[in-house]
Amino acid sequence: VTAKLLEEMPPIINTEVNEKVRLHCECLVLSDETLHDVCQTLNTELNRGLAKETNAEATIKCFPTFVQELPNGKESGRFLALDLGGTNFRVLLIELGEGKFAMDSKIYAVPHDIMVGHGTELFDHIAACMASFINERQLNDELLPLGFTFSFPCAQEGLTKARLARWTKGFKCAGVEGNDVVAMLKDAIARRQDVRIKICAVLNDTTGTLMSCAWKNHNCMIGLIVGTGTNACYMEKLEKVELWDGATDGPQQDFDSGFEGVIINTEWGAFGDNGCLDDIRVYCDHNIDKESINPGRQLFEKMISGMYMGEIARQVLVKLVDEGLIFENQNCDALKEKGQFFTKYISEIESDKPGDFSNCLSVLEDLGILDATPEDCASVRYVCEVVSRRAANLAGAGVAVLLNRIAQKKVTVAVDGSVYRFHPFFHDMMVEIIKRLVKPGIEFDLMLSEDGSGRGAALVAAVANRSAMERQQ
Ligand code: GLC
Repeated sequence: VTAKLLEEMPPIINTEVNEKVRLHCECLVLSDETLHDVCQTLNTELNRGLAKETNAEATIKCFPTFVQELPNGKESGRFLALDLGGTNFRVLLIELGEGKFAMDSKIYAVPHDIMVGHGTELFDHIAACMASFINERQLNDELLPLGFTFSFPCAQEGLTKARLARWTKGFKCAGVEGNDVVAMLKDAIARRQDVRIKICAVLNDTTGTLMSCAWKNHNCMIGLIVGTGTNACYMEKLEKVELWDGATDGPQQDFDSGFEGVIINTEWGAFGDNGCLDDIRVYCDHNIDKESINPGRQLFEKMISGMYMGEIARQVLVKLVDEGLIFENQNCDALKEKGQFFTKYISEIESDKPGDFSNCLSVLEDLGILDATPEDCASVRYVCEVVSRRAANLAGAGVAVLLNRIAQKKVTVAVDGSVYRFHPFFHDMMVEIIKRLVKPGIEFDLMLSEDGSGRGAALVAAVANRSAMERQQ
């Protein structure tokens, strides 16, 4: 009887958020006017990255990639892909042929001591995981072409040469910055002597995401990641890319649309590192930056991506507790510990239907807060909404800038990353803001590029391998 009664009861109406809580969060709400300013500044910074004269001091490095050709569907064979850039490392085996795309992959953890240890240990670990993957599948006798997705800022000097500019996203291995990561991987493989690999390409995850979507969709000219980190690559017009010196094996690309350009890995995560975003950064941004492994760096990324979003929300919640605005007489010890409010909690909490706080209550239970009131839950949800909307607005502003630069009538944006994928409204919030910031007449769509960094790496390797074979014939 009780269960039936409960079922018939109307849902609790979403408790209005406490006015003091709302006021406290106001500093995280960005007006369209502010976002317009952010767009303008980002555009200026991109120009500084692209121009020869200013590139050295520019914070957004705009690295030209050397991905020259799109896949034509005729690639075939078995390819390996390595994907390093988030919390995990993956090895993939991809089989291509006659419109076929089969994939087998395995995830390996990268232990924290390796993330901050010496570079040779990191590459030995990568080579060891790859060897075990190859052994398990008895592929030792094949000389497999390999694409390496290495998702950190790199100055590319060719399709298989990429110097790490600096570590981001919690990695800090000694002896890698300034060095060619392909050479380091080759050395690690040589030290083992048990696998045979032909490294065909090294690329960023944004490029992989763009490529794996462009394979089928020729309007695709932007690759975006909102995951552990955030970054975007896009097709820039040839004449704007002063860093590309016009060498015949340079990175120019002809698109079916007739657009002649170069794929630029913007590394926009570093936007703001010269202070140009200081007007919109608030106390939680400062705290997160101070406590990070790379203070003063990747300030745009720290306002947007999954590595930091949960922590931003936690900082706000702790402030609200300290001001006596939420969780009266509750044990907030766990909440007060750094890193204890995971980014996935934000997606879970915002997935609750209006008026229902079941996910919210179970998150709070995880944190040892057992008697939260509906008003507390409404406040927690509001904080999550404000934090995720700010992230979506900033990432959306970035996309609008790229769309306005490309200035083609119809452009598809390939997107991947855990935040975009798992947050219930991130896509919608981005579409909404981009529509308001983009020049009239530009149509766009945001397309989930499933597993772009893995598939993209295999595709780029396949194209490179195909071209090399064609040249030999
Ligand atoms: C960080 C990296 C960048 C990568 C992004 C998304 O910003 O520096 O190379 O694309 O994270 O993974």
